[in-house]
Amino acid sequence: MAQRRKIGVIGAGNIGGELARLCASKELGDVVMLDIPAKESFAKGKALDLEQNSSVIGYDSHISGTGSWADLAGADVVIVTAGIPRKPGQSRDDLVAVNLPIIRDVADNAKQHCPNAFVVVISNPLDAMVYEFQRRAGWDPNMVAGMAGVLDSARFQLFVARAAGVSIKDVRAMVLGGHGDDMVPILSQTTINGVPASQFIDKDALAAIMKRTRGGGGEIVNLMGTSAYYAPASSAVAMAEAYLQDQKRLLAAACWLTGQYGYKDMYMGVPCVIGGKGVEKIVELPLNDDEKAMLAKSAASVQGIVDVVKKSALASRDRAPTGGAPHERGAPHVVFVGYLSVVASSSRTLRRSGARSRASRRITFSSAKRSRSTVSNASSSFLSWGSRQARSTRSRSSHAGDSAARNLASDASGESSPVAAAAFAASTARSIERSPTRQSTGGLSARRKTCTVICAVAPTITTTTSE
Ligand code: LAC
Repeated sequence: MAQRRKIGVIGAGNIGGELARLCASKELGDVVMLDIPAKESFAKGKALDLEQNSSVIGYDSHISGTGSWADLAGADVVIVTAGIPRKPGQSRDDLVAVNLPIIRDVADNAKQHCPNAFVVVISNPLDAMVYEFQRRAGWDPNMVAGMAGVLDSARFQLFVARAAGVSIKDVRAMVLGGHGDDMVPILSQTTINGVPASQFIDKDALAAIMKRTRGGGGEIVNLMGTSAYYAPASSAVAMAEAYLQDQKRLLAAACWLTGQYGYKDMYMGVPCVIGGKGVEKIVELPLNDDEKAMLAKSAASVQGIVDVVKKSALASRDRAPTGGAPHERGAPHVVFVGYLSVVASSSRTLRRSGARSRASRRITFSSAKRSRSTVSNASSSFLSWGSRQARSTRSRSSHAGDSAARNLASDASGESSPVAAAAFAASTARSIERSPTRQSTGGLSARRKTCTVICAVAPTITTTTSE
């Protein structure tokens, strides 16, 4: 007898709901939406709403919500949306500190409950999260891929279709590289059914399209206040469908590289064939010199954030959860990765702003050192006292007119969950770094305060949540 397929969706937020709706309406299989225990009833409610929809739309897929990984046993496909989405002003990389313990928890559970699934990761920063999922779980690298290329290519194709005045159905284009601000739209291969796009669109307009594509996710975050979800969900479903139906589709996705395009031991967006064996083949396109250079820049950005992930794994000796309270397992990762991302973002900002003098570097690295000692000296009593500290920092900094610290503390203490507060703390550090009015000493003290707030909120972090 034919068996019903099972699709696990991790996270019952905006993307999770849309994923479930699409999988069910295409009848790809039964859908189990998982969220943290605190949001289990929300997941169940959303699933019930979607199941009732089946009577009107006419699909036979069953949809259920759960807080227990055991319900995902034997899933054929798992789509991971767990993690905190971006807010205006944040880059995807800003999410690494808070989403890393979450992806580790997902990897541990997936390994235990559905070890044979084809896994599609959507959580950001995408390339680093899919890397970490594979590393942590020891997954077959061809059975886990990151969803980004389909989405970035879809955005690029739309802008090309509108500028060329042609049907979206006839645009052929791909975006490669990391899912970040320096992703690489491959103009040399962009055609309207084989006719070069440059015959329809002038150079300046094409350059503007490339820029808009790179900022495509951020444009939506700025408009909506949160991440996109319709196009990201359809893109992940295209990958899941290609696997479940052995379609051998040629799609762009974050794949494990073993030397293709000159890169190895990392996940990054490349064209690949997805079929019943997962990522069956990586396809190498002929790139021109400009495109090769852009890909190298994008790969360096991906590597930078993967290095942060690797260092945190080394620092924590990658201890698998041993059954302690969730915060005991998650907090050191978050604190340490928070510190690393502050350091990484400080040096990136300095590099970008051209501040290359020894003196500026010294300021950055000595402040980073101080941040580290703040982090490592934080005692557990200080940690539990932290949430109140964030609130009082806010009111004290109001008096002192220290708007950076005030915003930081305000964002952190006003957030509905400690996880979101930690995300805000990390991202605020970067905004302060970027601020044109920042003084060296202001940046320095802001970084210290950031680490303080990360310390403060980290202990209550649970290991899984949904976008
Ligand atoms: C975006 C998210 C899914 O680009 O990364 O919209």
